[in-house]
Amino acid sequence: MSKQELIDGLNQQLNREVSTFLRYMLQAASIKGAQYESVRGMYMKEVADEVGHAQYLANQIVMLGGTPKLEPDLTPPPTDVRQMLEADSGQEGTDVKNYIKLAELAEAEGLIALKMQMEDQAADEDEHGHEMQRLLG
Ligand SMILES: [Fe+2]
Ligand SMILES: [Fe+2]
Repeated sequence: MSKQELIDGLNQQLNREVSTFLRYMLQAASIKGAQYESVRGMYMKEVADEVGHAQYLANQIVMLGGTPKLEPDLTPPPTDVRQMLEADSGQEGTDVKNYIKLAELAEAEGLIALKMQMEDQAADEDEHGHEMQRLLG
């Protein structure tokens, strides 16, 4: 394990976060119908969470001596609300695993504040995934 491996992992996750907040922003904009108003509200709230995650990752990459490199996934998101929730709850689960791995890498480098923040972001993503599962019914 090395600092470079940690920087690369943080940058990969930064790209996932940027891709996620762009997708959630577009999905929130596209959702229509009173029955989906709570889903729309959830996506709008989570855009702010994912922006915060991305900002933290970008700050840490620079503090570790790296340069953030953005290559977001700009694939158009689904328009069907159930498809959105099913796909995104899976992605949130992947983010949980990624943050747990990043916490381990940070701990191996003796970066305790970063380790704890990665665990906090894992917890945020776990909650996002559960909220989506709840909205799926
Ligand atoms: Fe996130
Ligand atoms: Fe999330």
